[in-house]
Amino acid sequence: MFAAIATRYDLLNHLLSGNVDRRWRRLVVKKVVTNLPVGNAQVLDVACGTGDLSLALVAGTQAQVVGLDFCRPMLNIAAAKSSQRGLAIRFVEGDALRIPFRDQSFDGAAIAFGLRNLPSVEDGLRELLRILRPGGAVAVLEFSKPQTPILRTFFRLYFTKLLPFFGGLISGSKSAYEYLPNSVSRFPDQISLAALMREIGFTEVTFQNLTGGIAAVHLGRRPKK
Ligand SMILES: C[S@@+](CC[C@H](N)C(=O)[O-])C[C@H]1O[C@@H](n2cnc3c(N)ncnc32)[C@H](O)[C@@H]1O
Repeated sequence: MFAAIATRYDLLNHLLSGNVDRRWRRLVVKKVVTNLPVGNAQVLDVACGTGDLSLALVAGTQAQVVGLDFCRPMLNIAAAKSSQRGLAIRFVEGDALRIPFRDQSFDGAAIAFGLRNLPSVEDGLRELLRILRPGGAVAVLEFSKPQTPILRTFFRLYFTKLLPFFGGLISGSKSAYEYLPNSVSRFPDQISLAALMREIGFTEVTFQNLTGGIAAVHLGRRPKK
């Protein structure tokens, strides 16, 4: 599915979100950066797709950034964007449920609009916890539950009617943009995701609603000991 939409993915992201996605990713970078140790930090961007978050992470930190995704066409676009800008981001093909790095390899991690797509959210969180060094933090950016009934109604209409129509028209894959609202409706809301992160073993779990709760960024830390 992601291979089919790879070439139009960035355009559609910015178009269908009215460019708000860029602001959301910048906030993720800020959260990751403020939680990194000083010096030579390493950050993993899981389900990096076409690399927008990896690029923003490199621009906002001095850290070494690795992007991981299992979809080669998405990674090819990410690598092309990175080399066009003269950046040294390593893009690795691999499964977020079996991250091809040893335990405790990264000082920070992020996953943007990726966790929802995994067959098991719990296992995805476990993998993120595993690859973090003690004290390292992960930022999870995902669609969430809009906080007011009006916004929920508007968002549901937009997400289930307009988005599949325009997404399908521009990408040529209507099913991918029908899958999106379905996957969001199955995904835990803000409170449930925070609870799940704690259950998996993250500490200091907090979240911030974005654009009235249309999305949320969760932060969790691997315990220091
Ligand atoms: C909606 S895109 C998000 C891409 C990017 N993080 C962003 O913010 O635009 C979801 C990405 O998750 C990747 N993905 C889904 N399941 C995965 C898995 N099991 N392992 C690795 N990547 C996965 C897809 O290939 C796709 O690139």
